[in-house]
Amino acid sequence: MTQKDPNQQRDTIFAAPLQSPAPFEFNAQVADVFDNMIQRSVPGYHFLLDVIGLLAARYGESQSNCYDLGCSLGTMTLRLRQNLPAGAHVIGVDNSAAMVSRCQHNMARDHSQASYEIVQQDLQDTPIENASMVILNFTLQFIADQERPSILANIAAGMRPGGVLLLAEKVCFDDPAEQQLQVDLYHDFKRYQGYSDLEIAQKRAALENVLIPNTLEQHRQRLLDAGFSRVETCMQCFNFCALLAFK
Ligand SMILES: C[S@@+](CC[C@H](N)C(=O)[O-])C[C@H]1O[C@@H](n2cnc3c(N)ncnc32)[C@H](O)[C@@H]1O
Repeated sequence: MTQKDPNQQRDTIFAAPLQSPAPFEFNAQVADVFDNMIQRSVPGYHFLLDVIGLLAARYGESQSNCYDLGCSLGTMTLRLRQNLPAGAHVIGVDNSAAMVSRCQHNMARDHSQASYEIVQQDLQDTPIENASMVILNFTLQFIADQERPSILANIAAGMRPGGVLLLAEKVCFDDPAEQQLQVDLYHDFKRYQGYSDLEIAQKRAALENVLIPNTLEQHRQRLLDAGFSRVETCMQCFNFCALLAFK
């Protein structure tokens, strides 16, 4: 079970019955409980936090940019910054005003050596330049499928040779029986995290047509097509995966 953090507000957004859940949005109500929501909803989230730190220490270069695209409250952005050398520059991007204001507040409390900026922007408008590391942690899945290839190509084009992209996504499976099993296992995980069947069903309805998953193979091929030279699996737990794509 997730450890209790007294600073975290518990996610109860879908606890009471709703007439018909509105499409999911990253608004102020979600931003207020987002730390708790993501830790209880994404298997492996803490593991990925550690991975970001390790990758930053190995791949993050001085005099380069390191991007966190869809940075939300800045949990990963902070870990990235804390493990970069002096002279590196962090750019956190999110298009939700509620997320960006909270992220700026969270980042301002840290005094690591790498400089940073948090920008409210559609990540499709973010120029990627001189990047040694890019994070897309559960963000691409919220962007229209047809936009995804050009986003990845833009990232690959802006990366230094030897740079790394961490792409984490909820995925789906071609085989219907496998798909059903992985979703069932994931819902077991959510129940274990204290979510009720009603919360699980209502959140699922709210995410319908908002979070569009691809298969792992689609992601792999798309990254290679975008210009990355090598793609390796970094984490898989049920229908949640992280890939490392090397320039
Ligand atoms: C699931 S959250 C990402 C979690 C975060 N990366 C973390 O690890 O804590 C997805 C985030 O992507 C942002 N987002 C979605 N579409 C976006 C876009 N087109 N441009 C920028 N941010 C976007 C949302 O506002 C939200 O904060």
